[in-house]
Amino acid sequence: MIKFKNQNKTIPYLLLKEKYDEALEAGQKNIEAISISSYDKNKNEVNSRFVNLKFIDSKNFIFFSNYNAPKSREFSTHDQISALFFWSSTYVQIRMKARIQKTPIEFNNEYFKNRSPDKNALAISSNQSEKISSYDEVLDQYNETKDNKDLYSCPDYWGGYAFVPYYFEFWEGHSSRLNKREVYELQNNDWNHYILQP
Ligand SMILES: Cc1cc2nc3c(=O)[nH]c(=O)nc-3n(C[C@H](O)[C@H](O)[C@H](O)COP(=O)(O)O)c2cc1C
Repeated sequence: MIKFKNQNKTIPYLLLKEKYDEALEAGQKNIEAISISSYDKNKNEVNSRFVNLKFIDSKNFIFFSNYNAPKSREFSTHDQISALFFWSSTYVQIRMKARIQKTPIEFNNEYFKNRSPDKNALAISSNQSEKISSYDEVLDQYNETKDNKDLYSCPDYWGGYAFVPYYFEFWEGHSSRLNKREVYELQNNDWNHYILQP
């Protein structure tokens, strides 16, 4: 589930909330899963992965991750990303282009101390996306952290990312294949609205 706070009253944010509510009502599983694509400047390569979106506030879309992982290196050299929801229960795709940055440390600390200690042990113990010799070693690192570390202090290598979309495309599949595509694109602080051919 995604927590909505201080709802933004502009049309694309309202439409996103409406589509979210419809998918939730239709029993959508993993509704908070969102694909994030980033650009690796050094490798000249695009990279995608799912994360769980936790919050949408008046403008930011927020998820949490390790700050030393590949995605973080990519965001730091190229702060433009694309993000993607697909909700199969209502056959809706939402594409976004956005700018991304880290959330403030105070926000991370507050969030971390209210999470379950098991989740926090993983966040603390894992050098996310680094090679390791075996899965057993992953378990050892995790158990060692669980037994010996303060599980409520957020490490400096873990925290949130907030992205702010400047482009939304709402795609609604229809059985006729006459799929509906509506774009809202930010131009001079206003959402420019247009329709795309399917
Ligand atoms: C449904 C789903 C949700 C996920 N949620 C997160 C998340 O919230 N944060 C995170 O760091 N990784 C999450 N992951 C793991 C990422 O997809 C990815 O493996 C990890 O973040 C490393 O990515 P990177 O090497 O590109 O930095 C999730 C994976 C799936 C399939």
